[in-house]
Amino acid sequence: MQRSRIIGTGSYLPVRKVTNDDLVKEFGIDTSDAWIRERTGIGARRIAAADEATSDMATAAARKALEMAGVRPEELDMIVIGTVTPDMPFPSAATLVQAKLGATRAACFDVTAACAGSIYAIAIADSFIRTGQAKRVLAIGAELLTRITDWKDRASCVLFGDAAGAMVIAPETRKDRGILSTHLYTDGTQAGILNIPGGGSKKPFSPEVWEKREQFIRMNGREVYKTAVRVLEAASREALERNGYKPRDVDYVIAHQANLRILESVMKRLEIPLEKCEINIDQVGNTSSASVPLTLDQANRAGKLKDGDLILMMAIGGGMAWGSGLMRW
Ligand code: ACO
Repeated sequence: MQRSRIIGTGSYLPVRKVTNDDLVKEFGIDTSDAWIRERTGIGARRIAAADEATSDMATAAARKALEMAGVRPEELDMIVIGTVTPDMPFPSAATLVQAKLGATRAACFDVTAACAGSIYAIAIADSFIRTGQAKRVLAIGAELLTRITDWKDRASCVLFGDAAGAMVIAPETRKDRGILSTHLYTDGTQAGILNIPGGGSKKPFSPEVWEKREQFIRMNGREVYKTAVRVLEAASREALERNGYKPRDVDYVIAHQANLRILESVMKRLEIPLEKCEINIDQVGNTSSASVPLTLDQANRAGKLKDGDLILMMAIGGGMAWGSGLMRW
């Protein structure tokens, strides 16, 4: 079957940078730089401007990825966006990006897998290319989590930031390069540990939902932590074993930046040195589905990814939904 590869990356970060100290001084949150850094590794995050929506960030990231790939918008067969913060419940953010780019031929949809959204988008793009149903796919992770953050919940509001990352994925002609495999998993019995309870069909918006702040993210941080460490290790091992590799063969890790402690624990369990893991959480916080493509783009543009590098990708989000991928750059 035809393998795929990432031929262009791009990302977008909102201009406004908010440090941990700013959260205390400007947002009035009862926290401290020391607490946030020690528990999460986060030093700052970006927050979108009032007139910015998810599709704006996604479009900006997409333009850069298309430029790097040398692909024109009208050549795209598909746009898939991992996001839980589309501009509106429907149509999808992908359709709005299509219109902004002028990607007239592309089939467009969003995929809801929370912070794992971009791994799901990569897997979908890869599958369509492998089966010959698409030749040029724009896979994006774009998230404006600060709009669905409960700014009165200090245990979660300090974590999140806004961003978008985009990848142009196309057929790979060389035998020993490209996306080797992707692996997706879900455990719906854990839906209760990370979700937004209100505003959907079960509890439509109402004064009660508003009163209970159920329109915002609810998280059981400890449970998320425990699950994340366990399943990210397992998913990474699955990707490596399926392709006949050991953790020591990995050159670079591009992981969802949920929390530095989670990354440290997963790398330790895999016995992969933390230096092989690209880290930007100190600067951007947890950017959910944008995290993997944003991190990939930053590493790519910094010239850190070398031809032939074995790159392990992983992400986890509410659901719980998670996944891994292995590619030869
Ligand atoms: N500043 C200061 N104190 C705080 C803050 C804060 N921002 N938040 C909580 N605390 C206090 C609590 O009030 C509590 O105080 P108490 O002992 O006097 O009651 C104490 O710190 C411990 O609270 P916990 O909620 O138990 O904090 P914990 O040590 O579990 O740390 C954290 C919270 C950082 C969220 C941790 O659980 C964690 O890392 N979980 C992983 C979750 C995660 O990374 N989610 C990312 C989003 S999901 C995803 O991307 C997959």
